[in-house]
Amino acid sequence: MYKLGVDIGGTKFNLGLVDKSKKIVVQHSEKVPENKDWKFVLSHIYTTLQDVLAKNNISQSEIISCGMGVPGTVDETMRIAVKVPNLGWENASVADEFERISGLPTTIVQDSRAAAWGEYVAGRGQGKNLVVCVTIGTGIGTGIVADGKIFNGALGGSGELGHIPAVKNGRPCGCGQKGCLENYVAGKGLGITATEVFGDGASSLDIFNKAKEGDTKAVEILNQAIEMLGNAMVATLNLVSPDCLLFSGGISRQTELFVEPLIQYIKAHSYSVTAENIYMDAAALGEDAPLVGAALVPQSGKNPLRTDDGARTPKIAASVMCADMLNLDADLKMMEQAGIEYLHFDLMDGHFVPNLMIPLEMLDRIRSATNIPYDIHLMTYNPENLIPKMKLQKDDIVSVHYESTPHVQRVLTLINETGASAALALNPSTPIECAREVLDDIKMLLLMTVNPGFAGQKIVPQSFDKIARARKWLDDLGYHHIQIQVDGNCSFENVPKMHKAGANIFVAGTSSVFHKDMDILSATAKLRNLIEERQEN
Ligand code: DX5
Ligand code: ZN
Repeated sequence: MYKLGVDIGGTKFNLGLVDKSKKIVVQHSEKVPENKDWKFVLSHIYTTLQDVLAKNNISQSEIISCGMGVPGTVDETMRIAVKVPNLGWENASVADEFERISGLPTTIVQDSRAAAWGEYVAGRGQGKNLVVCVTIGTGIGTGIVADGKIFNGALGGSGELGHIPAVKNGRPCGCGQKGCLENYVAGKGLGITATEVFGDGASSLDIFNKAKEGDTKAVEILNQAIEMLGNAMVATLNLVSPDCLLFSGGISRQTELFVEPLIQYIKAHSYSVTAENIYMDAAALGEDAPLVGAALVPQSGKNPLRTDDGARTPKIAASVMCADMLNLDADLKMMEQAGIEYLHFDLMDGHFVPNLMIPLEMLDRIRSATNIPYDIHLMTYNPENLIPKMKLQKDDIVSVHYESTPHVQRVLTLINETGASAALALNPSTPIECAREVLDDIKMLLLMTVNPGFAGQKIVPQSFDKIARARKWLDDLGYHHIQIQVDGNCSFENVPKMHKAGANIFVAGTSSVFHKDMDILSATAKLRNLIEERQEN
């Protein structure tokens, strides 16, 4: 299972996939496009993501969520970028827009808070109670994690340490004030000092290089910067008494010339209780802290895609025709215990498919023995006659075959009117494009991966390619929420490949959940592990 993290900066963006062990497995960074319009930037990021996935042979269905760090103020719902001065964004619905174009549940977070979260969950802040992480880059940002949560402050402006007054009537700042700390201490400020002292063309890096050679002016500039930032840190420490203070961002890599003397200054000047016990260091994740933190930030939970299981998480629909009919009650209990998401019922009329199964009365009877929602697969001619007779529930899905009636749209509407969800089923030889006119009527597309009617068949080999084309086609048309179900020979071997291709609901019969050599619990666990492993690799 991967989580996507994106760290959008003023000039560069850095995106990557983080796996279950909190490690970055794939990463890419490049310049923010010239056109800084927020919608344009987001669509550029999504196109870049698709390229990166293609290059690394990873399917988007393996990504479960997206977290985005943005260099500015984010609203308390973690969905809107309220003010991002460096990019000129104001009140931009970044999370909604990225969800719309990518289909990924998305949450946004101010970048320095993302960095603090990254260090807390995966870096040097692990196991600490109150982590303050100061990012010293072009400017200065601070994130605080307290009691396992990102601290935003009541008005959202917590951590703006770069904007405390350091010099009276000093250098004008982007925030509208004068003499703010970051205009002297961070990359931008040291850059200005460098040109003032060493002439045009000099940069903050020159200060460090000269200080290394022992240049007294350069050493003095750094001492001043350390004192200014150090005083701000002492104020912070004495106010909140954290047990961990970390430094990230470009300048934090200057260990000997900056981080070490800064830590000494802070220790020497802080209130003793904190000074004696605090852990201070450079951040472990370096410049990837905001990416990792954003990826792992808890999702805001307001995502429409997640309120009705629309998220394309892997689910198992157990094929009841393969259960033990002489012990159905026991099998149902085991399926419940195994967390099976759907009971898949094949309704067959002996005409549309050359087999028979199961009277509606029996469906109702089985309902009294289970809470698992139904996934009813109609393999009958005239399916429209059946819908009014079925006792459907809200979480049920009913699939109708495109090939079974000239009135497909009518049947789908009938199903949706009951409150259950409609799905369209396609035989192996039916082109996916046949679903085009009813995409607004369905929540799932069922792709038959065997010719329907019987359990225990071999997969039709072209199925994998068809699944991949269907997933891409749906995504390109903006139907990210339509899930793809596959039915037929969902074996331990085939399911990981089907999942990689883009399917996320697996009809499991004799090939897996009801495998002749295994019980339902261990077979289901094995199947889920195989899907998980595929997501890890
Ligand atoms: C097809 C059925 C079957 C089946 C799945 O109409 O839905 O595909 O029960 O089981 P196996 O794993 O036997 O293909
Ligand atoms: Zn079926």
